[in-house]
This record gives sequence, C-alpha cells and structure tokens, in this order.
Amino acid sequence: MPSTNGVLSPAAQRRIDHHEADVVIVGAGILGCALAVALGRQGRSVILLEKSLEEPNRIVGELLQPGGLQALEKLGLADCLEGIDGIDVKGYWISYFGQPVLLEYPKSSPSSPTPLGRAFHHGRFVNKLRQAALSCPNVTVVETKVTGLVTSSHTNEVLGVESVTKDLKDCYFAQLTVAADGYASDFRKKHHQYTPKRRSKFYGLELIDADLPCPNTGHVLLSDNPPILMYQIGTHETRILVDVPDNLPAASVKNGGVKGYFRKNILPKLPEGCQASFLDALENGQLRSMPNSFLPASTNKTPGFMILGDALNMRHPLTGGGMTVALNDVCVIRELLSPECVPSFSDTELVLKQLSIFHWKRKNSSSVINILAQALYSIFAAEDRSMQSLQRGCFRYFVVGPVSGPVGLLAGLIQQPLVLVSHFFSVAFLSIWILFRETPLLELIMFPWHAIMILYTACIVIMPYIWTEVWY
Ligand SMILES: Cc1cc2nc3c(=O)[nH]c(=O)nc-3n(C[C@H](O)[C@H](O)[C@H](O)COP(=O)(O)OP(=O)(O)OC[C@H]3O[C@@H](n4cnc5c(N)ncnc54)[C@H](O)[C@@H]3O)c2cc1C
Ligand SMILES: *[C@@H]1O[C@H](CO)[C@@H](O)[C@H](O)[C@H]1NC(C)=O
Repeated sequence: MPSTNGVLSPAAQRRIDHHEADVVIVGAGILGCALAVALGRQGRSVILLEKSLEEPNRIVGELLQPGGLQALEKLGLADCLEGIDGIDVKGYWISYFGQPVLLEYPKSSPSSPTPLGRAFHHGRFVNKLRQAALSCPNVTVVETKVTGLVTSSHTNEVLGVESVTKDLKDCYFAQLTVAADGYASDFRKKHHQYTPKRRSKFYGLELIDADLPCPNTGHVLLSDNPPILMYQIGTHETRILVDVPDNLPAASVKNGGVKGYFRKNILPKLPEGCQASFLDALENGQLRSMPNSFLPASTNKTPGFMILGDALNMRHPLTGGGMTVALNDVCVIRELLSPECVPSFSDTELVLKQLSIFHWKRKNSSSVINILAQALYSIFAAEDRSMQSLQRGCFRYFVVGPVSGPVGLLAGLIQQPLVLVSHFFSVAFLSIWILFRETPLLELIMFPWHAIMILYTACIVIMPYIWTEVWY
C-alpha cells in the first residue's frame, strides 16, 4: 500500500482491516478510476473494486474526443495518455459513396492551434488510469468481483457491497456506494428507471499496417451499408468497427453470417490501402462484437448509492462520445460532492440533493453528445427513402455548410443543444432543396409529399431524444 513514510494512515488501515471507507466504487474502468482519483485527492477515503486488474482487451473506448481530453486535463490525469503509443486525432474524414470530405476540429480562435483528440488501445489507457488510482494514497484498489449490494432492510439505504475474492466471500462498506460497472451493469436494475435498448452491434477487427486515406483522423465510411468507422490506435494498428443492425438480412446465417457479410459487402467498400490488411484480420484475427445501446440517464433516488458511467447513460458509439461524457461527469460530480458542499457522505439526504442537481447539470455536456449520436446513427444507417435523402443532405452540409458547428458538437467542444437543433434542421432543409433540384419537372407534383416526409422523418429522428434530455 503506498504511503508517504511507510506508515499507513488510520483511514488506509480501516480500508484494509475493516473494508470500510467513505466511498466504495464498483468497477475500475474509465469512470471508476477517474472518480477514485478525483475523490481521493479531495481527501476522501476510497475503495475501488475491480473484477480483473489485467490489462483489458476490448474494442471500446479507443478514440477520446478533444472535449474528453480537456476533461482529463481538468482532472489532472492528462499524463495517462503518455507512453501508450497513442495517435493524435485532428478531426473526421467522411466518405460518402467514395466522395470524401475532411472535417477538422474547430479552433477556439483563428490564432489558436487545432484542438486534438487521441486514439489508443483501450486497455493501455485503462491501465494508466488504474496506476493513477493505485498511486493515490487515499485510494485502495482491490481485485474482487462484486456480486450484490448490501442494503439496510428498513431504510432501503445501500450500505456497501458483497463480493467474491478468489472464491471467498467478502464485504465492503461505505457511506456512498458507486456503481461504475459499465454497459452490462448488474446493479442498476432496481435503481434505474430505464433499461438499455439496442438496435445494432459493432463488430471490430484490428488491422495491421493499414494505409488510411487520411491519417490522424477518424474515418467514417457511408454507403448503402450501415456506417463503418476506422481509426489508427497505435503505430501499426488500426481499429475498424462495422455497424451490423440486428436481423440484417445480408448478415444472416444463410448469407454466410457476419464474416460472409464482411467479405461480400464491406471489403469492396474499404479504401484500397486497407483491403489486404482487412482480409488478413478477417481470416487470422479476432472478430469481436459489442452491443450498441441507448440508455437515458435517470435521477438517483436510493440513499447511499449512485450510478455513473455506462451503467447510468449510454448512446450509440458512432461519435465516440462515451469516455467524454464519463470524464465530464466526474468533473461535475467532484464539484457537487466536494468536502465544501458535502462535509460527510453520511449525510445521505444532502448527497441525494446534490445528485438531483447533478442529473440536470451534467446535461450541459452530455445532452448534445447523446442526441447527436442517436440522430446521426439513424441518418447514417439510412433505412428508407427519406432517411437516404437526409443522409445525402447531411453529407452536402458537411461539404458546403459551416462545418465548425457540427464538428464542434461532435468533438464535445460545443455544448449548446440549440446549436445542434439548428444545424439538424438546416440539414433537413438542405435535403429538401437537393431533392427539389433533382426532381424532374413532370414528377414535381409529388415533391411536396416527399418534402413533408423528409421533414417528418427529421422530426421523428431527433424529437424523442431531445424530449428525453430536456424533460427527464
Ligand atoms: C463498440 C464500442 C465502441 C466505443 N468506442 C468509443 C470511443 O471510441 N470513444 C469513446 O469515448 N467511447 C467509446 N465507447 C464508449 C465507452 O467505451 C464507454 O462509454 C466507457 O468505457 C464507459 O466507461 P465506464 O467506466 O462506465 O465502463 P467500463 O469502461 O466498461 O468499465 C467498467 C469496469 O467495471 C468492471 N466490472 C464490471 N462488473 C464488475 C463487477 N461485478 N465487479 C467488479 N468490477 C466489475 C469491468 O471489469 C470494467 O473494468 C464505445 C462503446 C462501444 C460499445
Ligand atoms: C489524502 O487525504 C488527506 C485527508 O484525509 C488529505 O489531507 C490529503 O491531501 C490527501 N492526499 C492526496 C495525495 O490526495
């Protein structure tokens, strides 16, 4: 256990001997580690529980948007991006049926440098975050699998957790228990208003020495297939994520499954410099998948408990916003739960009050990311004629429109939902204008109908998500 002079503080002794602290955090992923360090540095006694401290090997959380990088800096954790062979990201390169456009992250002023994001191997970044937690004297990290919450039978208050360490039962107690156990959280069921909804999965491969058309950008490939993402995550490695909607006929068992779909439908759509490495990865590499879920956040009402990270709130990973939301949330919560605002977490009523403020305050940064991810996914995975018109309009907008707005939203740098709404409807009207110009004179009689359908589709794409964000 690290300590400044070899002698453990009483709080550290209590964490080890009695498994007791101010906060117990379940899950040492992106959110859990950042939160443990943030609270530990405020002088709280923290126990961080993780089922496996081995370097994670996953296809998630590999591109950190500039907004997330800024949050990491605010938390004093930017050094976790050093020494992991990360790749600077300066924006997005979007190809629409082979026609490309480069969208750079917008500068805050003409003289300032282009803000950068960073891409890396998820596991290496998580390892760095875990090291930061391990070297924090007020944090004790324990490898144990949490199996349940310990709840007071008469007050419904969460008192801690039960876990299993190397086949042995264990318990950890705290005034505040945090579930940060990720997308498949076991602990949100009774305490979260919503359940995740899934429309598709991302299938991932790692390409070796692929030759990307536009290095140092996130690549988005749009065509009549659902969207494909590619970005370099190391000197030699490139991640490719292919969206496969549930029940996609082209990927059915009859049609050769996902591998068959990749060979027949995806391979020909890839930039030439990536095709050989893609085939190689498909034949010899590890094909893995993850569900792409949507989960609106809900206000925590259980005393002594808090849900954060993917366990609380998820959006489609198309825009790579999950880590940015998680790190921004840590920035917000550490202010609201600071010792100045909440002297002791044993005041569960005050904690609950701060959590209801958190629910609204976090929306400043999370709403735009959530709405944009869901709306863009619907458009990029265009399923009908109106959606296809919107997709075309969206791409045209990227080419001719004021791109700093949309890309700033994507980067997590612009946080006003109204900016998002205005760009979104500009896209809808541009789509209608394009349709008008392309409709032959004799078919113009049907144009108003198609125009109304595009506008209607635009509304049903975005309105439910806006509604969720502003009302609940
Ligand atoms: C396909 C895909 C691609 C993505 N790409 C990006 C991207 O490019 N950029 C981006 O910003 N976001 C991306 N995301 C989202 C991002 O991965 C998540 O938002 C982020 O990892 C959430 O962090 P978290 O700490 O909440 O959960 P996680 O990082 O999943 O951490 C949860 C931790 O809890 C541990 N745990 C779980 N159960 C238990 C238990 N019972 N006991 C003890 N420990 C437990 C796990 O082992 C894990 O370490 C992507 C998501 C998907 C699905
Ligand atoms: C650890 O907590 C104590 C209070 O318990 C605080 O004074 C100290 O600054 C914290 N140390 C670090 C390195 O965050």
